[in-house]
Amino acid sequence: MKPEISIENLVRPNIRKLEPYRSARDDYESGLLLDANENSLGAPYQQADGLHRYPSPYQQKLRGKIAGLRDLEPENVFVGVGSDEAIDLLYRIFCEPRIDNVIITPPTYGMYKVSAGIHDVTVKKVNLDPNFQPKVDEILDAADEHSKMLFLCSPNNPTGNEFEQERIEALVSEFPGIVVIDEAYIDFSDRKSRAELIKTHPNLVVLQTLSKSFGMAGIRMGIALASEIIIKFMLKVKAPYNVNALTSKYALEAFDHLDTISFHIDKLVEEREMLRNKLQEVPGVRKIYPSNANFLLVKFDDAVKTYKELAKKEIIVRYRGNEPLCENCLRITVGTPDENEKLINTLKELAE
Ligand SMILES: Cc1ncc(COP(=O)(O)O)c(C=O)c1O
Repeated sequence: MKPEISIENLVRPNIRKLEPYRSARDDYESGLLLDANENSLGAPYQQADGLHRYPSPYQQKLRGKIAGLRDLEPENVFVGVGSDEAIDLLYRIFCEPRIDNVIITPPTYGMYKVSAGIHDVTVKKVNLDPNFQPKVDEILDAADEHSKMLFLCSPNNPTGNEFEQERIEALVSEFPGIVVIDEAYIDFSDRKSRAELIKTHPNLVVLQTLSKSFGMAGIRMGIALASEIIIKFMLKVKAPYNVNALTSKYALEAFDHLDTISFHIDKLVEEREMLRNKLQEVPGVRKIYPSNANFLLVKFDDAVKTYKELAKKEIIVRYRGNEPLCENCLRITVGTPDENEKLINTLKELAE
């Protein structure tokens, strides 16, 4: 059993002692606001009404809504410009460039590695096992005193599967640093979010997003759920007005449409299984992996050829054949019923 983790000790010394920027809205939120050098005459056209003001720096209302949805407190919620902002901030907070390292479990989402590259942080790779599950002992063996973060993606991109609960719990309990569980696709899964684990594990960060199940990738709204101390550091390091007023407005409005969101999730899950059944009949399809997400990982006889031929027909899927354990695999997003039918018909034509 690892000794009790001190989050403060994991934080880079410069961030620990950082005096954050105080924006005008930190001091007063209402009154005759002549403190932020905004344009007092307003925005130049009617649809932009109100946008001459800076947005709320801490987004309390939105964080409250998200906390309610996930049965947490607003102090456990960070909102930012996509999950990618949260990933970037975690590197800035915890990883000393050229000294610290992170562990990732390929095949997995590419930004963990890209962000490490940006921050000059070493990446240790411990590939998933052949069932696409994390290898707990190997991961723990790979961790050293400079291993600050472990990224787990569940349901995993590009494989689509959920990681087993016992493995996640073992890693969250035993890993001597921050464990990030990326739940971008959690709402398509038949198991529930691990967000409640943050109540007992201060070193856990759960990432979510409005880009997938909410259908709002265009507004760029990502979420980190974590202990209050981690969220405080994220708020300290983020840009003062990271979430813009339009994103915030649309995100809040989305919470008035949870029924439609739920309906879309159910429909996409149904379509995913329909697509799976139909793909099974396509010549050249060798294996369709189980999925708890809104996409399928599919092994073809010749994935490069299929990928290129589909693209010629203007059907674009993602080639993942270069990833470990994903030889000859394409990742296919579940489309509308019409789109899925078109894909299947085209694949059948190409196989003739
Ligand atoms: C696992 C995973 N995490 C995060 C993201 C990015 O999310 P966002 O749009 O919130 O930046 C993606 C996008 O494809 C993803 O697959």
